[in-house]
Amino acid sequence: MRRLRRRDVVRTFRDLVSCIARATLFCPGFETKSSSLTTPVQETNRDSLDMTNDGLSIRLAQPDDKPAIEAMHFLSVHGLNSADYTARQIEAFIGYFGTYDPTLIDDGTYFVAELEGRIIASGGWSRRMPIFETKEGEQSVVCEGISADSAKIRSVFVHPKHTRRGLGSQLVRLSEERAVAAGCRLLELWATLTGVPLYRKLGYEEVGRLPFTAPDVDPLMSVHMAKVIPAEADSASAA
Ligand SMILES: CC(C)(COP(=O)(O)OP(=O)(O)OC[C@H]1O[C@@H](n2cnc3c(N)ncnc32)[C@H](O)[C@@H]1OP(=O)(O)O)[C@@H](O)C(=O)NCCC(=O)NCCS
Repeated sequence: MRRLRRRDVVRTFRDLVSCIARATLFCPGFETKSSSLTTPVQETNRDSLDMTNDGLSIRLAQPDDKPAIEAMHFLSVHGLNSADYTARQIEAFIGYFGTYDPTLIDDGTYFVAELEGRIIASGGWSRRMPIFETKEGEQSVVCEGISADSAKIRSVFVHPKHTRRGLGSQLVRLSEERAVAAGCRLLELWATLTGVPLYRKLGYEEVGRLPFTAPDVDPLMSVHMAKVIPAEADSASAA
């Protein structure tokens, strides 16, 4: 993951510049804010942001959710990513790169979906650059192709028993709403191969591909995807 092939970086950067150029040209309301990394949110407790008829609720993740989030991520990766990655790559995903950045919880930009008191999905967004902390405690920015000012959709995971009920989509849409409210219209992400169909369905386009490398394991292919939310989406969602 930390050693990027120069050719891939150049291609990804070129595509990204084109994506941002399109955003600026075709979205008059496109703007970026670099004054703060995150938007302060009102909800600092366990209030539900959304509740469905079947008792599922979505709320902001709290620091004491971390063990449950990590346990759910473990099940999700082992249960759902094995069609696209080898067992060794999955171990590297969890143990070397980590599945999420807990800083997002402190930022108030990471959400969990809860059913009967159990966390069954999570996801969020951030202006922060994805940073992966290795087991050795080393931190490195690995996504050089990503724009500093965009909103990044981060770490969407669903429990294997609860897939294809729209949870992943709900979490991405909520993150998009928050990002747009914060003035970010360019949304980016690094998708696992498993996540690509979800993001495609939600309107994201592939910008490039990057192999994330870890010791003693084949590189994990990841897909850089992006989407621009047009300015009129604000008034539509406000109506
Ligand atoms: C990717 C993931 C988050 C999708 O979550 P989900 O809650 O099942 O997604 P949704 O129910 O919102 O799916 C929305 C659409 O995405 C597409 N989609 C989702 N999963 C798919 C799959 N396994 N195969 C094909 N299409 C899929 C479908 O078009 C689906 O609509 P449909 O069910 O009406 O056909 C989930 O599979 C997961 O947690 N995977 C493991 C972790 C991971 O790789 N996360 C992505 C990190 S970038």
